[in-house]
Amino acid sequence: MEKIHAVYNSRFSNLHEIKISPLSRAYTFSDSVYEVIPFSNSEIIAFDKHILRLEKSCNALDLLLDFKKTTKEILELISISNLKNGYVYYQVSRGVDDIRSHIFSDNLSIETFGYVVEHVFKSQKLKVMLCKDLRWHRCDIKSTSLLGNILSMNNAKKKDCDEVIMHKDNILTEGGASNVFFTDSKTVFTPSLSKNILPGITREILINEIKDAGIEVVEDEFNINDLKKAESIWLTSSTKGLAQVSDIVDLEVDLKEDHPLYLRCNKIFKDKFLGSC
Ligand code: PDD
Repeated sequence: MEKIHAVYNSRFSNLHEIKISPLSRAYTFSDSVYEVIPFSNSEIIAFDKHILRLEKSCNALDLLLDFKKTTKEILELISISNLKNGYVYYQVSRGVDDIRSHIFSDNLSIETFGYVVEHVFKSQKLKVMLCKDLRWHRCDIKSTSLLGNILSMNNAKKKDCDEVIMHKDNILTEGGASNVFFTDSKTVFTPSLSKNILPGITREILINEIKDAGIEVVEDEFNINDLKKAESIWLTSSTKGLAQVSDIVDLEVDLKEDHPLYLRCNKIFKDKFLGSC
């Protein structure tokens, strides 16, 4: 088995050598949060923003993480991996119970776990399924409780789709593991931040960069009808970058592949964050 550099409770080892307790609250309750931190050409993309979001997720769960230690561990993982392009997965759980109990005891020690793998951003065209957003009301927390996303994405896979676009009562929220953007001929639209979507780092840095380049971006509440009228749609995430949507099953759309506005935004993103990748 290929060696994957990992760290568990600050001990570095091969991922496959780590043993965890089944009473980890990450395992029994998904009582845990995480980050996916990409790096390209040996440069970490928006590291501070990922650490800040992890801090917000930890605060929402009252997890007292040592952020200096976590930062050092993430940097160390990237350094020992010798990889130029990849990402670090880093998870923080409330700890390991003596016996499963919904209400946790006050004396648990936080449990941390991270690993680094190679990942190269490639240009993708995704077939997407539109579906109801089954999730809870705090999707702004980057929690490992992703059952709603997982059920929807795997239903979509049965229809030969790669991703979903979710809506709550007709109002667009986000992708299963990404944020949603769409355009007309000159303006970029994306659902505004709320407790129903994750504040994606790729979303944030893309909006900043394209606004700086003079492109109009509208963050607002959008519905399925707005999506029907879109000329182009793309999804963003730390592992996808910008991925074009080529088709939405069960929705009549007329998408122009390689739309000039998509190409322009993608070039701005790639030039700024992906180097020669
Ligand atoms: N997920 N929304 C959801 C539900 C996500 O899971 C993700 C990313 C995003 C985009 O966030 P960012 O741009 O910060 O990656 C939006 C990661 C990549 C994952 O779970 O693997």
